[in-house]
Amino acid sequence: MNSTHDDKSVIDRVLVLEMVRVTESAAIAASELIGRGDEKAADAAAVEAMRRAFDTLYIDGTVVIGEGERDEAPMLYIGEKVGGAPGKGPRIDIALDPLEGTTITAKAGPNALAVLAAAEEGCLLNAPDVYMDKIAVGPGYPDDIISLDKSVTENVEAVAAAKGVEPADIIVCVLDRPRHADLIAELRSIGCGVYLIGDGDVAGVIATTDQDTTIDMYMGQGGAPEGVLAAAALRCVGGQFNGRLVFRNADERARAAKWGIEDLDRVYKLDDLAKGDCIFAATGVTDGSLLDGVKRIRRPNGARVMTTETVVMRSSSGTVRWVKGEHRI
Ligand code: FBP
Repeated sequence: MNSTHDDKSVIDRVLVLEMVRVTESAAIAASELIGRGDEKAADAAAVEAMRRAFDTLYIDGTVVIGEGERDEAPMLYIGEKVGGAPGKGPRIDIALDPLEGTTITAKAGPNALAVLAAAEEGCLLNAPDVYMDKIAVGPGYPDDIISLDKSVTENVEAVAAAKGVEPADIIVCVLDRPRHADLIAELRSIGCGVYLIGDGDVAGVIATTDQDTTIDMYMGQGGAPEGVLAAAALRCVGGQFNGRLVFRNADERARAAKWGIEDLDRVYKLDDLAKGDCIFAATGVTDGSLLDGVKRIRRPNGARVMTTETVVMRSSSGTVRWVKGEHRI
């Protein structure tokens, strides 16, 4: 089924565009619930639509990062087989978040996305659903410019020096959470601009790769599954990432053991989170810095259409495509 003779990857290039359909379906379904105050319903609609869209793909897929463990999630749970060609199609691992930003969607805030990453079997970290300390920068910096083993100030100073600016010129995106009070205070004490986001740290990390956002760095604790998704995106567009899992109690440490994680303090870099050839796709649900959200338009002749915007990227080619979709209602 590979479309080129020299392409040895199981990630067929045709699949790159097929993934657009999957995130588009989830985004369209979730968009019906924008501003309706019901996070669960929005998430369920996205999950169901994404699950159905996978069935149309010629893949033997396995969800490695999903909606939760089998007993917690009815659909798209970790280990669930997806795709229309079980036992026949290319074996692909999938990390997904059908609705990244459930609260954002319920409140009609910015930057909710339908997201997935796909890679050859065994290439995406099976991250437990715990928090992860994260630090990220976009492309163009010397290797290892950032490190979770350095202080906040040392990291900002290193990035500022490499950019040829003062630390006070650096803008850092941080999730607006009480747990980040010390981080925010330290950043402000050295004069940094702190770009606070209410939710959605996949978009926050990707914002570091887009000059238009003026965001230089991402720092703080968010979900570990979202860390893997963001890492897959940075593998495609360039950038650096460090992540360290955060275990708050014995139950979370037990989860790590179940996932085969022995070194609880390990710092994961991009290749540890997403390696080999991988695809990242995201469709906007609500308008955001990265993507426009789903829009419903009524034409003068009465025809009704929906528009979507998706970014899809592949690490082996480094190609980034922005896909505008128009869908008849
Ligand atoms: P959901 O879509 O699951 O609500 O996640 C949104 C999010 O903001 C993620 O982007 C982020 O990684 C995580 O929640 C942070 O968790 P918390 O809200 O517990 O601080």
